[in-house]
Amino acid sequence: MTDTLTIRRPDDWHLHFRDGEIMRGVVPYTARQFARAIVMPNLTPPVTTAQLAQEYRERIRAATPAGTAFEPLMTCYLTDTTDPDDLARGAAQGVFTAAKLYPANATTNSASGVSDVAKLYPVLERMEADGIVLCIHGEVTDHDIDVFDREAIFIERHLRAIVRDFPKLKVVFEHITTADAVQFVEQAGENVAATITPQHLHINRNAMLVGGIQPHNYCLPVAKRETHRLALRKAATSGSPKFFLGTDSAPHLRGDKESDCGCAGIFGAPYALESYLTVFDEEGALDQFEAFASLNGPAFYGLPVNEDRITLERAEIAVPQELDLAGATIVPWHGGQTIGWRIAD
Ligand code: DOR
Ligand code: ZN
Repeated sequence: MTDTLTIRRPDDWHLHFRDGEIMRGVVPYTARQFARAIVMPNLTPPVTTAQLAQEYRERIRAATPAGTAFEPLMTCYLTDTTDPDDLARGAAQGVFTAAKLYPANATTNSASGVSDVAKLYPVLERMEADGIVLCIHGEVTDHDIDVFDREAIFIERHLRAIVRDFPKLKVVFEHITTADAVQFVEQAGENVAATITPQHLHINRNAMLVGGIQPHNYCLPVAKRETHRLALRKAATSGSPKFFLGTDSAPHLRGDKESDCGCAGIFGAPYALESYLTVFDEEGALDQFEAFASLNGPAFYGLPVNEDRITLERAEIAVPQELDLAGATIVPWHGGQTIGWRIAD
């Protein structure tokens, strides 16, 4: 049995840092494990311009512990009025690594998102021409569509058209949760990839709803049926370069989740690598972990792989029930559970 695993330092290709005090509490958890992270722009107000992204990047850098080489990779929050020139300039200057499409009102802080994908076509044309990666929250928002069907219907209504109309556009289908999404990505060209979160590899929808409502297992897109979880595990551990690590770590205060209208989001950052590795171990796929965590993402984004290494070792660790971040209480993913891997010093 393999008891230690040394891999190139991984990156997190989908992450929410928030801002202010919470951000300062959250950044060290990510910087401990990852060399880079694609930072989501859904702040209030959202990060819609290169100027705002540059300022936000500085705040993140200031929150990074001294001696840690961590690089935040910034994204532009797309709206109905995104200026293609500002986006292209920001990308050319190295401020933006990608742009994020939130369908309006799909999730946390997405009210200023895109109301109609057709309005975004001039922006997508420019992104395709300039090689700027498009990250997509792939869910429709129509009230008459069942929440468990929103990802699959997004593929049929929007994603197929985007990929058809912009055949060279690099698209990351974020935090996929269905076998439909796995199949779509597998069948698309090599310019289409997907990130997968730890929670969607670990739980199905029962974890949210059986034995009482469990708000710390609630995120968007919501976990689906077991068949979908198994398809995600197969994709993540398959060695296919189209699937890579993106935690979607999204901290919310304990009180905001345990509320009569609980927020969507799981704070996966603190034990992210350990959580993913448990899945690869269970699937007998430890040899595929480096590709998923450290190689496929950089290859897709056209960035160099990280040169330094990180070692994980088999050991039982008790994940705390809750974490104190600057006086605020946040429940981490796996809170109160024991997991079987840890990062070696
Ligand atoms: O669960 C989620 N939380 N999904 C998202 O898409 C956004 C995120 C957040 O920002 O809280
Ligand atoms: Zn997210």
